[in-house]
Amino acid sequence: MKIYKVASYEQMSQEAAKHILKVMTEKPNALLGLATGSTPVGMYQALIRETRATGFSWQHIVTYNLDEYVGLDALDEQSYAHFMNVNLFDHVSIDQAHVHIPNGKAEDLEAECRAYEASLKTAGGVDIQVLGIGRNGHIGFNEPNDAFEPYTHVVHLDEKTIEDNARFFESKEKVPKTAISMGVESILSAKKIILLACGKEKAQALYDMLYGPITPQLPASILQKHGDVEVICDEAAASLLKGPFDV
Ligand code: PGA
Repeated sequence: MKIYKVASYEQMSQEAAKHILKVMTEKPNALLGLATGSTPVGMYQALIRETRATGFSWQHIVTYNLDEYVGLDALDEQSYAHFMNVNLFDHVSIDQAHVHIPNGKAEDLEAECRAYEASLKTAGGVDIQVLGIGRNGHIGFNEPNDAFEPYTHVVHLDEKTIEDNARFFESKEKVPKTAISMGVESILSAKKIILLACGKEKAQALYDMLYGPITPQLPASILQKHGDVEVICDEAAASLLKGPFDV
């Protein structure tokens, strides 16, 4: 894995946007794997700015998001569908028919997971996947567990995740307890992966991901198996890492 340490959140966001812009420019119908959370917000802002400045057309770009809460639909302000609209899709010329986010309101959640995975496969695979990392080492909503979940699945959220995400809800009790998430094989099938991390609360997870054993107890460690991962992190998130940085 390559590790790229930057001085600020703004720089991390710019650098991440640069990777995505490169893929989009080389392939105007690229398939982007997208993430939610506080970390990628600045990257989406940079992408909006840059594509507006250059007049890049999003018309043929296709997106697949990593995850969605069960029980929330796109109109719910806490849903990831809403997050994506507010932070990216409402500001670019993307065709909504090309946007894919698991349906957290599906009547048959297992069928929704199977359909999402099949659609991802049929679409031809992700060209560049954006990831954040949880304090507990999750990627998407692949939570610490006894075994890796390979494909899109329903997941019971970890207590740490519920605590971390409570800041977006009125109270911790309002955070959904389950979600749909791409699995680790779905993620690893991306051609290229960029993982963004900022803040000292991510430092241990980042260290374990890079130097610890590959274990489902720290789902991000599976990324050690992928040949093209770039970690873009600020100094606080990198504070436990030892140089030289390419591992
Ligand atoms: P955060 O979440 O960006 O809100 O810290 C990251 C993640 O859980 O993947």
